[in-house]
Amino acid sequence: MNNPISNSRCPLTPTRGVIRSIIPMASDNTLFQITVDGDALSDCMPGQFVQLWVPGVGESPISVCSGHVGATVELTVRKVGRVTSALFQMNEGDWVGLRGPYGNGFPVEAYRGKDLCLIAGGLGVAPIRSLWQYVLDHREDFGKITLIYGMRHSIDLLFRSEFKMLLRRRDMEVFIAAEELCGPALPPISVQLGRVTDMIKAASLSPTVEVAVCGPPVMYKYVIDELKAKGIAESQIWLSLERHMKCGIGKCGHCFVGGAFACKAGPVFNLPQLRLLPEAVECA
Ligand SMILES: Cc1cc2nc3c(=O)[nH]c(=O)nc-3n(C[C@H](O)[C@H](O)[C@H](O)COP(=O)(O)OP(=O)(O)OC[C@H]3O[C@@H](n4cnc5c(N)ncnc54)[C@H](O)[C@@H]3O)c2cc1C
Ligand code: FES
Repeated sequence: MNNPISNSRCPLTPTRGVIRSIIPMASDNTLFQITVDGDALSDCMPGQFVQLWVPGVGESPISVCSGHVGATVELTVRKVGRVTSALFQMNEGDWVGLRGPYGNGFPVEAYRGKDLCLIAGGLGVAPIRSLWQYVLDHREDFGKITLIYGMRHSIDLLFRSEFKMLLRRRDMEVFIAAEELCGPALPPISVQLGRVTDMIKAASLSPTVEVAVCGPPVMYKYVIDELKAKGIAESQIWLSLERHMKCGIGKCGHCFVGGAFACKAGPVFNLPQLRLLPEAVECA
């Protein structure tokens, strides 16, 4: 199909992406695999996001959820409002626009050689997945890996078959917790009753571990308290923040918080950085 956005050079003009597959995961969460023209997103790093444009509707920031972006980018989207609902109406073969990658992402260079603890709550598993996939692709560069994933209801577990494989690996420790066990039985995935904080208590984490966290803001305060109780320094605790965003490139001011543009300086900050942005989250 002829379209108005291919071959454009303007940084605010999206690159065309064709929806290759639509994979429903749990409740209103769906994985979209999108093939992009050229190598526009090939330098994407874990924790970065794209601006997804649904023609005629608008744009929304969405985290890239795959550790390696070649011709295909993976996005996990929850249907919540205008843009995401319009995306859920689309079919395989339809095209969307993508701008990016934007944001700083997780500091993988600083993580190299160190133990890592990745903590995801709910849909926060999307950017955390990009990080575990990247780290496992470069496994020899990192120390011990602990992955903790929590959700309210076990039926909302995302990336079920991938977790089955992760749980079998001997070179990482995986904890999955749900506040309520419900829905169809999940064997061979063992979901424990509890919260992310219970899993942090149960995990054996060295005080030098680097921690990457993404989840609902209410989770952050409790996670931070638990990590600090384990003697982990604030500078090793990295949180991915969701702010309202429009342009993604530090121009419109929508994401301005405490003197910084979250779309450029973030969305990933460590705790000392967050303390300089007092309005960002209450936990800092
Ligand atoms: C860096 C970053 C990464 C993100 N990554 C992801 C991701 O990987 N996956 C994902 O699904 N989301 C992600 N988000 C969140 C996503 O961008 C937002 O949920 C976005 O608003 C969705 O766009 P929308 O147009 O569908 O929703 P909107 O129409 O903007 O609605 C968003 C929220 O506002 C509520 N709302 C909308 N209209 C009204 C109204 N009239 N009155 C009251 N409430 C209303 C909706 O119920 C919804 O809760 C990310 C956000 C950021 C900043
Ligand atoms: S989203 Fe426009 S300045 Fe950050």
